[in-house]
Amino acid sequence: MSAPTLSANDLCHCGSGRKYKRCHRIADLNPDRVANEQARREEQARLAERYVKPGKQSPRREVPPEIARPPYANDPQGRPGVRESAAPKDAETLAKMRVAGKAAAEVLQAVGAAVRPGVTTDELDAIAHAECIRRGGYPSPLGYNGFPKSLCTSVNEVICHGIPDSTVLKDGDIVNLDVTIYLDGVHGDTNATFLVGEVDEESRRLVEVTRECLVRGIAAVKPGGRVRDIGKAIQTYAEGEGYGVVRAFVGHGIGRAFHSDPQVYHYDNPSARTELLPGMTFTIEPMITIGDWHHEMWDDGWTAVTVDRSRTAQFEHTLVVTETGAEILTQV
Ligand code: MF3
Ligand code: CO
Ligand code: CO
Repeated sequence: MSAPTLSANDLCHCGSGRKYKRCHRIADLNPDRVANEQARREEQARLAERYVKPGKQSPRREVPPEIARPPYANDPQGRPGVRESAAPKDAETLAKMRVAGKAAAEVLQAVGAAVRPGVTTDELDAIAHAECIRRGGYPSPLGYNGFPKSLCTSVNEVICHGIPDSTVLKDGDIVNLDVTIYLDGVHGDTNATFLVGEVDEESRRLVEVTRECLVRGIAAVKPGGRVRDIGKAIQTYAEGEGYGVVRAFVGHGIGRAFHSDPQVYHYDNPSARTELLPGMTFTIEPMITIGDWHHEMWDDGWTAVTVDRSRTAQFEHTLVVTETGAEILTQV
């Protein structure tokens, strides 16, 4: 091996995904600390096993022709087209969004019930796909901006947008399942983080704090208030508990379009001045980390992981602003 020329904050040459200073730097400076190549390889293998890596994707799942597709599903690149405004929805659209939201929640419940050690994320995708179609809906992720599957499955250090594949869930993992359904012309978007078998206290606490972040974000929604209030409530609670808030991914307006204005930051962002008005529909979907909240992207262009490979969790609901607060649309 040639002499390392990495700086402390670069990713380690061993492929662990950790910063050089947290991984092999000491060993490289003091060869005696890692007695021989054998020990070095064992260390590499140990780290490689601890972190998620891409598996093999199954062939694309088909949607029956009688299911209505969102416009992007007919575009080869899955481009979503013009952005919808943040304006309040009319009563007819809201009625449809209640139905789509309930369907999304049911699908999430069905997929979540299949989480156990030994299941692959592709098997979970197959369930999400079938459950959307069974309800007459289209699985919104499929083809969206080229996303290849019907569900997002984000394991351990994966922040969001993990692609279902041959990855086998194992005892002690945590997995976020993000379900979106397009039903009767509107989307319902919801996610939750599930425990796989026996999960240690550190990860269980992360999951519970993240669940509470969503609860607090929703409680901050008041007509006449601002979008900013939501992120402020989440950040205050998360950081108070010693956790990080991911900045790079936000909640979003939703309706006939999957993603639209407003952008719902999960941290206090003074630029989020949009006034909350009854009838506005958007998601809140905080991503919370045990360690560093900065992210890094896998080569697939979708899978976002924490830079330090610390674990992260997320919960999401679609909601509508009411005269007094918020109504959660993605409930069974
Ligand atoms: N459901 C995700 C969200 O909460 C978006 C997934 S986009 C996809 O906004 F293309 F990855 F499916
Ligand atoms: Co969303
Ligand atoms: Co989602």
